[in-house]
Amino acid sequence: MSYDYNKKLPKSLWKFYFKYAMRGHWPLMIGYAILFMCVMSDAVLFPNYQRWFIALFEQTPPGGESFVDFALPTILFITGLFILWDVCLILRGMLHGRWQPIISNQISDVLNDFVQHQSMSFWTGRMAGKINSQITYVSNGFNVIMNFLEIFGSIVMILINVGLVLEINSYVALIFAAVFIFRLVYGLALMKPMSNSAKTASEENSSLSGKIVDSISNYSVVKLFAAADAEREYLKPARKKTITTRIYSFFIQRWFWGLPNFVWDIAFGITMLLCVILFSNGNILVSEIVFTMSVFFNVMGMISRIIGQIPNVVELLGSAKKSYDELNIELAVRDVENAPDLVVTHGRIEFKNVWFKYKRKWVLRDFNLVIEPGERVGLVGPSGAGKSTLVHLLMRFYDPTRGEILIDGQNIRNVAQDSLRRSIAFIPQEPTLFNRTIRENIEYGKPGATDKQIRDASRRAAAHDFIMGTEKKYDSMVGDRGIKLSGGQKQRIAIARAFLKNAPILVLDEATSALDSETEIAIQKSFDELAHGRTTLAIAHRLSTLRNMDKIVVLNNGVVIEQGTHNQLLRRRGEYARLWKMQSGGFIQE
Ligand SMILES: Nc1ncnc2c1ncn2[C@@H]1O[C@H](COP(=O)(O)OP(=O)(O)O)[C@@H](O)[C@H]1O
Ligand SMILES: [Mg+2]
Repeated sequence: MSYDYNKKLPKSLWKFYFKYAMRGHWPLMIGYAILFMCVMSDAVLFPNYQRWFIALFEQTPPGGESFVDFALPTILFITGLFILWDVCLILRGMLHGRWQPIISNQISDVLNDFVQHQSMSFWTGRMAGKINSQITYVSNGFNVIMNFLEIFGSIVMILINVGLVLEINSYVALIFAAVFIFRLVYGLALMKPMSNSAKTASEENSSLSGKIVDSISNYSVVKLFAAADAEREYLKPARKKTITTRIYSFFIQRWFWGLPNFVWDIAFGITMLLCVILFSNGNILVSEIVFTMSVFFNVMGMISRIIGQIPNVVELLGSAKKSYDELNIELAVRDVENAPDLVVTHGRIEFKNVWFKYKRKWVLRDFNLVIEPGERVGLVGPSGAGKSTLVHLLMRFYDPTRGEILIDGQNIRNVAQDSLRRSIAFIPQEPTLFNRTIRENIEYGKPGATDKQIRDASRRAAAHDFIMGTEKKYDSMVGDRGIKLSGGQKQRIAIARAFLKNAPILVLDEATSALDSETEIAIQKSFDELAHGRTTLAIAHRLSTLRNMDKIVVLNNGVVIEQGTHNQLLRRRGEYARLWKMQSGGFIQE
């Protein structure tokens, strides 16, 4: 099932939660909220149980009824309520256990899907690990719904309790109200320094762990320079800082919790005194005194709990909001409404007056190029010339600032992006692989491919032999990003993928520059076979790989400075000839 957000998310986090988090689970959430309130009602029920029970002893049974018979209904009633309450408690826990994983996964599912649809510009300068933790923050943020329920419930229960005490005696109620208000004001006033110190402590902590991760992941450099001791020294200042900020934060929290207790102590003393005075004047019953004391403790506990939760709520929501805003970037490349699929009939590619810039500087300036169906075009030029940018425009990772790119006469801006990318097999300089089996990595080129098709593609990519040499053959795991394979092996898996994809257009971006010459020659044959009958655009670092191309285009500073076949360009004695001379060791071979 895909989401109907049309690759756009609401501006505000709350709207997002309401729209996506609880989608399809409203009854569950409403049931949970009701049970939550039922469980919270103990704050009113428990003091009343004590009051009702003690009140039994203040009365005489009417009309010769035995005291036990008289008391029994009250006892049964209270016991029944206790049992009911416990049932609610279990049900609430069960519903919580149900919605929590469902909803946090639903949130992460939507956000994951959203970032997978994001444009290339979103990914440059971002780290995958950070995006993952941002998604986690947003999904954790939803848990404040429980804090809100508890805060709301506590306020309701406190008001009911104070109302009931008011019925007994307005002075006692007044003391309660005064103490609650003090506690609230005090808590709010101290919130800022509290959360600041907690924030500093957690920032220091994550900065330290960032440094540790950096240090550990560079283990090979550390080994190479025998620098373990130096690394330890390097981490020392950050460790020291973490320790002091955490101690300080802890210190502040303790005082924050500790101080109001003294006010409670005094308020309790005054309440007791008041009860004694009221009792000596015959204005209060023992059951009412028990009730008042019980309310006092209950309310005290509730206030401490909700105030204690506020920093947590602020922090959870703060990180969730920040992460959400950072993820919720509008897509730079969007499909037009009802975009039709690209239909590749011949595979003719045309760049028409294409201008492009990332920020200020033009990377491509009035670039024009036609690649005829089945033609193989090589693209060369110094690094930074704009070669990769050009193929990224063809893949529609970005849209040209001006001009247009046509495939068989269709402007790629107006077709569905997915259909465009389905029509192009793209082999990048450093293909990355999923940490899955070799089979799954190859199958990515054509989901649902048969074993035979996968083997066939691997053979044509000259990958079959090395795959059969791995421990579990096609079921071998390739490691994180393919770390267990060499550059050439990864490259061949990427080629097998492309064979399997069988797209009419082939694009190679310096696909062999990371390889040694021998591997390159081995792979070159695969490339030639792959390019056969497909419109091909190949960027190459080593000019020898482009010798057999139908046309070679030399790019410099975003403009075409020369084009022609290998031999034509050599005869021109221009830039290409110069580069060729350099790479072939001073000999111009004809
Ligand atoms: N994502 C990007 N954001 C900003 N500038 C970029 C980005 N990618 C490339 N550039 C700049 O665009 C120019 C062309 O880069 P590129 O197309 O990668 O060159 P080539 O592939 O020919 O080496 C370079 O100056 C490079 O710094
Ligand atoms: Mg490049």
